[in-house]
Amino acid sequence: MTFTLNDTAYGTDTPAARQAMYDDLRPQLQGLLHGETDLIANSANFSALVFNTMPGLNWAGFYFLKGDELVLGPFQGKPACIRIKKGRGVCGSTVVEGKAIVVPDVHAFPGHIACDVNSRSELVVPVRGPNGDIVGVFDLDSPLPNRFDQTDADGIASLVKLLEATLA
Ligand code: SME
Repeated sequence: MTFTLNDTAYGTDTPAARQAMYDDLRPQLQGLLHGETDLIANSANFSALVFNTMPGLNWAGFYFLKGDELVLGPFQGKPACIRIKKGRGVCGSTVVEGKAIVVPDVHAFPGHIACDVNSRSELVVPVRGPNGDIVGVFDLDSPLPNRFDQTDADGIASLVKLLEATLA
């Protein structure tokens, strides 16, 4: 691992510290989503919570599927590319593969779409609707190489599940 979380409340960078962060985030997110089903409002608060809690991010946000394209949704960070075709970039590949993708080095990912030249690593998690179909993705970018691991992929997926429950 090439970075530390020494500027956060979660202490040194260990899988347990990462896990503790997601254990803290879940009830906070549940509070934000409680009683609300509006997808724009909920995904806006979701990205704000994650972006302002997780160290080492430069972008966190949603793309939602419209036809065969992902279209930019609520996010935190610099302005980003608006439309991504299914199968393109990390986001579009996540839709086609149907599972989370961790990219330790975006320069080594063929077809990566560079919205921010500072991004070095990326994690994209699919978002599913009530019938199990993918309706979008949640994308996290970091200026740090190798920022995301399986603990992050599982942790973010556990948060996405809470958002998915509001779509039922
Ligand atoms: N890097 C992404 C595009 C979205 S931005 O990073 C916000 C990709 O390759 O799909």
